This record gives sequence, C-alpha cells and structure tokens, in this order.
Amino acid sequence: MTGTGIRLQAPAPGWAIDADVVVVGSGVAGLTAALRCTAAGLRTVVVTKARLDDGSTRWAQGGIAAALGDGDTPGQHLDDTLVAGAGLCDEDAVRTLVTEGPDAVRRLIATGARFDTDAQGTIELTREGGHHRRRIAHAGGDATGAEISRALVEAVREGAVRTVENALVLDLLTDAAGRTAGVTLHVMGEGQHDGVGAVHAPAVVLATGGMGQVFSATTNPAVSTGDGVALALRAGAEVSDLEFVQFHPTVLFLGRDAQGQQPLVSEAVRGEGAHLVDGEGVRFMVGQHELAELAPRDIVAKGIMRRMREQGADHMFLDARHFGADMWESRFPTILAACRTHGYDPVTEPIPVAPAAHYASGGVRTDLRGRTTVPGLYACGEVACTGVHGANRLASNSLLEGLVFAERIADDIAAHRGRAGSPVPHPAPRALPLLDPAARPRLQHVMATGAGVLRSATSLADAAEQLDAVHRDAVAGNGEYKAAEPGVESWETTNLLCVARVLVAAARRREETRGCHWREDHPESDDSAWRRHLVVRLNPDRTLDVRATDTHHFPPTTTETTAEAPTAGETSVLETAAVDAPREP
Ligand code: SIN
Repeated sequence: MTGTGIRLQAPAPGWAIDADVVVVGSGVAGLTAALRCTAAGLRTVVVTKARLDDGSTRWAQGGIAAALGDGDTPGQHLDDTLVAGAGLCDEDAVRTLVTEGPDAVRRLIATGARFDTDAQGTIELTREGGHHRRRIAHAGGDATGAEISRALVEAVREGAVRTVENALVLDLLTDAAGRTAGVTLHVMGEGQHDGVGAVHAPAVVLATGGMGQVFSATTNPAVSTGDGVALALRAGAEVSDLEFVQFHPTVLFLGRDAQGQQPLVSEAVRGEGAHLVDGEGVRFMVGQHELAELAPRDIVAKGIMRRMREQGADHMFLDARHFGADMWESRFPTILAACRTHGYDPVTEPIPVAPAAHYASGGVRTDLRGRTTVPGLYACGEVACTGVHGANRLASNSLLEGLVFAERIADDIAAHRGRAGSPVPHPAPRALPLLDPAARPRLQHVMATGAGVLRSATSLADAAEQLDAVHRDAVAGNGEYKAAEPGVESWETTNLLCVARVLVAAARRREETRGCHWREDHPESDDSAWRRHLVVRLNPDRTLDVRATDTHHFPPTTTETTAEAPTAGETSVLETAAVDAPREP
C-alpha cells in the first residue's frame, strides 16, 4: 500500500534534522515511548504542538486502572473491560493491557510518579463506572494526569531526549518503497528551526491524542484537533471504530452555548458515593442498571440524556454535599476549585452537569505492537485504535493503554532498527485546500447537533450535508469566509473537517446502537449484522473506503513487508462510500 499523495498545503521544508525515531505528541503515551526508545539507544526526537505538558494527559482526573489491589486480578479487569466495550474489544489487546498493566504502573512509579497512598504506603484505589471493584490509582486526589505528566516531563528533560515544542506535524514522509521516512512539521520557534521543516527518521510514533475539539463542548484541551488521525488518513493508513465517541456523563454545565474545553467532574466523585439527581432531587439511575450511577459510562450518559429529554432540561445535577468540606478539599481539590471558579459550591449545593465529548474510542488501527498499516508508522494513546476499547472505553483504561502500548512500540522499534530511506515527493502530490479557521465554530456546532450523544439517519445525513457546505464555503472564501493561507489554525481546521467527515460516514453506516454510538432510529444492538468494526481509508481521489470487518486483527506490517487490505482470512465486505469523501471543491 502506498500513501494517498494528499498533503496539507504548506511551504516546502526549509530545514531538516535526523533521528532514529520521531515521537509526535507528549502525553503519557508519547513520553513513555520516547523515554524507552532513548533508553534503548535510539536517537529520539519528541515534537509536540504546544508545551510538553499541554496535552490531554495533564487533564486526566480519576486515575489509572490496574489490578493492583488485594484480591484483584487481571482477569477481573479484563471482564469489566470487555463488558464496557459492548462486544467489540479485541480480547488479545485487552489481555495484553491488563496483564502488562500492573508492572507498567510500577515502572511509572519508578520513573517518579507519586500516587496517593494510605498511612502504610499502600496505593489507594478508587472506583469508577463499569469497574466491579476498587482498581483506580490516583494522585493529588483528582490530579492524576498532572502528576503523571510532571514525572514524565521531568524525566524527559533530565534525559537525552531531544524535544521540539510549538511544533505542529503536517504530513508523513515516505521513501520510494512507501516506508516511513519522517514527518514534515511547522515550528513556531526562533532561529535555526523555525517555519516548515522536516524530521527524517525510519520510525514515526503518533501519540497526538484525541479529537474532542470536533464538537462544540468537550473535556479535551484546545490542542485535541484530530491531527494524528487526519495525517494517518492522508498517509494511507487505516482508521477504525471512529464512530465510537465517548461522551463523559458529568461535565460541569456552563450553559447551552458553552464552547471549547469544559471542566470535567470525575467519575471518581460518583465512585466515592455522589448521586445523580434530576431537578426534583430524584436519583434517576437507580433501577436502570445494577451499578446505578456507576454503570458503564455510555449507560449513564444515556440515562442523563433520557431524563433531560423527559423533563425538557438541559442538565441534571450531581449531589455530593454529604462528602463535607474536608473530603472535597482533600480528595477532589481540582474539581472543587473549578466549580467555585464558575460560581457553584459542591459542599453546599448539587452541581449542574451534562454529557460532553470526552474520548475517541477509535483511531488509527494498530496491532499489538502499535504498528499501523503503513510500514514504520506507529500509533499509541488516544490517537490509536489498539482494539482495547471496543465500542466504549472503560473508565481510566486510557492512561494504562498509553503506557503499555508505548512500551511495546519502543521495544518493536528497537528490535527492528533501520535507516531512514530518502523521502520522496509523491509522483503527483495534491495539496489539500485549507479551510478558513473562522469556520471552526460552525463545524463544531454541526457535529454537536448531528453526531452528538444521540444520533439518527436524519441527523447524520444533515450533518454530512452541512459539513459539505462548510467545506464549500470555507475553502472558496464564500460569504463570511476568506480564502485560507497555510498556518496553524487553517491546518488544524482542515484536519478537524477531515476527521468529522470520517466520523459521520462511519456513524451513518452503523445502523444500530452499541456502546457509545446511540442511534435513536436503531435503538437495539444488532449482533448478527454489526458485531463488526468499520475500517476507513482515504483514497487518492479523496473518496473514502468504509469497510466492515469481523476482526480488529490485520496481517503484520514490518519494515520488510507492506500490508494489503482487505486482509486474507478476514471475512470482510469492501464497500466504497464516495458520498462523504473529502473532495476537491
Ligand atoms: C474521570 O475521571 O471521570 C475520567 C477518567 C477517564 O476518562 O478515564
């Protein structure tokens, strides 16, 4: 397989650096991969879009799930993960996660991360939705991600990892044989490495995080614009399960028109006993699921949405007044501060909450060693689809997934170290017309309205049509828009449109309700037709191949061989959906 030949419109690289591996992104996955590659003697460069600690990891509250407690076993963790994933987890990937997870957490502690412990020094564990036991290690009360990020950033700064901050990666470079040869990137820097340049390396690790900014309201930071998935698609890689966007049930509700990153209210607050109540104070999750407020996340989000619809409300409430001031201050200081900043005091009143986009369960399709379908291109963390999450990620499995699969990637790169081939221009490179960044709020509104928690054929068809209109207007500079120049905001907005279109195409195709994909016109799961994955590839003519496959597995892609799709031995249906494809205007 070769790439699509489609590239973001950008100036030619004006500088270049060489490395053995370039890691794109600096969350738990990216920095873990970088530290381990460096320890293996690989010349490693981390490029990251803002500062090293600006990604999603820093915002993770609840913690990191692993079978660390007395009586807990990887097998029990596996069972809970499979149930949450609603029939679409890859069991091999989950088994890898839960068995390698506890030691990966211990290595993270050895790197310097400090988890909350009791007086005897034993790690304290909490519960979150879908977990049948206390299994979530946390730090700083509700500041787990910030602590993990601090420890990893410190280790990177003290070590031999070269870092390039304020660097947006644009496209993958490949050699004449279609193998990875590095990336192009734009750096807002000074001096030698400023503007568009290249890092030449035979291995590229995408760890760019998620795409929450494709929706109006999200828990994700501003940098989560789907850049890794869009790059991978342009590079010819497959993406999978993109329709499964997890909406976190309890995000502080700041009004219907709230835009961008919203304050998360960790599921651990419910894990410690908070109740969800409606405007009349009724606990509406009781009776809906044996775990009530601690049911898997999709079930709680749906329960909230249903109650909101029944009552014509735009939010519900989370009541944890019974914790008292001391517990709020010691256990959930971050959430307490965020609530108070916005005028709510959880010590004395129930706080308003509503679901918002939180996590992409799908992403760039990878195998158990983090390899994508493009030789030399790896992915880990939220940008990847390892098969662990299926149709709905189990709470606090994502930091663990970032750790475990990043380590596996580093080991694979170290075992197959190669030399970068010379990057070649594609025979007919086609520059993707860029979108005026002024179109971003409209795109986000379209996605929130048509492809949010509750979807239907009509809402998704409307979303697809509106995205086409956004594309037409914003590329051509119609009406309120200007023709866009290359720049960080227009590249990001173009990436957002790309991932929005793929997400909508997959969500239209999946005519059932499963996990976090909720179709009101197909309210049941349909195992006979849809216990399958939707795998998407971008074609050189900008149409999309959307293919249903029975398995997450695909044949190995090594530096010596290239993958073919569809794969031998896989019962798959090849269908081409041209309708939603990103096309020339
Ligand atoms: C939370 O703390 O509720 C978020 C944890 C997660 O998304 O896994």
